[in-house]
Amino acid sequence: MDHFTYKNGVLHAEDVSLAMIAEAVGTPVYIYSRATLERHAQVFKAALSALPRTHIAFAIKANPNLAVLNVLARQGFGADVVSGGEISRALAAGMKAQDIVFSGVGKTRAELAQALDAGIGQFNIELEEEGAVLAEMAAQMGKTASAVLRVNPDVDAGTHAKISTGKSENKFGVPISEAMGIFARLSGLPALNLRGVACHIGSQLFDLAPLEAAYARIGELVSELRAAGHGIDRVDLGGGLGVPYERDKVPPSPADYGAMVERVTRGWDVTLMFEPGRVIVGNAGVLLTRVIWVKPGVARPYVIVDAAMNDLARPAMYDAFHDFEAVRPTGERMVANIAGPVCETGDTFAMGREIDAVLSGDLAIFRTAGAYGATMASTYNSRALVPEVMVDGERFAVVAERVLPEALIAAEHVPGWLRN
Ligand code: LLP
Repeated sequence: MDHFTYKNGVLHAEDVSLAMIAEAVGTPVYIYSRATLERHAQVFKAALSALPRTHIAFAIKANPNLAVLNVLARQGFGADVVSGGEISRALAAGMKAQDIVFSGVGKTRAELAQALDAGIGQFNIELEEEGAVLAEMAAQMGKTASAVLRVNPDVDAGTHAKISTGKSENKFGVPISEAMGIFARLSGLPALNLRGVACHIGSQLFDLAPLEAAYARIGELVSELRAAGHGIDRVDLGGGLGVPYERDKVPPSPADYGAMVERVTRGWDVTLMFEPGRVIVGNAGVLLTRVIWVKPGVARPYVIVDAAMNDLARPAMYDAFHDFEAVRPTGERMVANIAGPVCETGDTFAMGREIDAVLSGDLAIFRTAGAYGATMASTYNSRALVPEVMVDGERFAVVAERVLPEALIAAEHVPGWLRN
């Protein structure tokens, strides 16, 4: 459920008309609903309420905006981070260092040092050498690194190949068959408190069965590790729950997911860590855009909007579907292609789709753009970096400014030796 609804024929975010935001801030612009974010956070927490000990670390790669993180921090969420930049953001948003989980297959030594210095709660180690380097650095800094070993359970998550992470050929985690040996070698290191295991098999998952299979394998590994004398008090179950980009395709609910986790992990006697991203923020955001032209095409017209692949990369990268709706629908429909102004054929949001009829100058939205939207934006074609707005009831605020090409140009330098 979200709070982007029509009131008197005009699409609103909570109690604010999107037409008003377009007038005040311009387009394209991402718009987040605070009430939707809070609702999703609460639904996710409620889904896990039957589990004895849990910690939720929002995967901030999905939406690292400080205002969004602030709302989630107030809900008691920590952060799953994958870079030094994300550590800085989580702390800047008021998340506690202890509530930060550091994932990622390529953490640099500088990032490991930053994380140790900040005193983050958990390192998710992706390869043996990383664990050894981390232990050595922690010892030098007089610290103990709290860590879990990320295991690749070799299951097919049944999602898009580019966002699948749990098959043996993927770059993530250590092969589950090698986990025992690596764990034994790393757990002997003095400055490392290796206390559990982690897995994350992919994103936008629509089937709980692969997750259940992965968790069952993790459960067996936990038993084997304990039998070998290792103290295990944490298991990180990752993220990945899908969201309904298309209204008639409904993913498993957080409650279904929670019930499955409760069944599979019964008796594990650990703190379960979760890293949801998309399911929390996906439907809490839309991308507001204005139609520049309706250009006649051979088979059907092209609706050319002022948002492009640099603002919302998902359709170009993953052939992703994002619902398109007029801000002031007339009731008329049309079949059209929807594309942005970027000079690439890939800058296409939809082909031959039935949509609300629109004319040049009309406002429209792409739905379900709160996850992996603004955060993946670029300035390709020297376009401005898209701004973000948060709505809260009747008020709204710009929570990320539009970064204009002038600011980007000012950060570039032509060396003196090129000027003569
Ligand atoms: N934990 C780890 C270790 C991850 O790699 C990810 C996502 C998550 C948690 C959060 O997954 P979520 O709950 O959001 O599915 N840009 C792509 C998605 C990439 C996901 C990367 N990892 C997209 O737009 O679909």
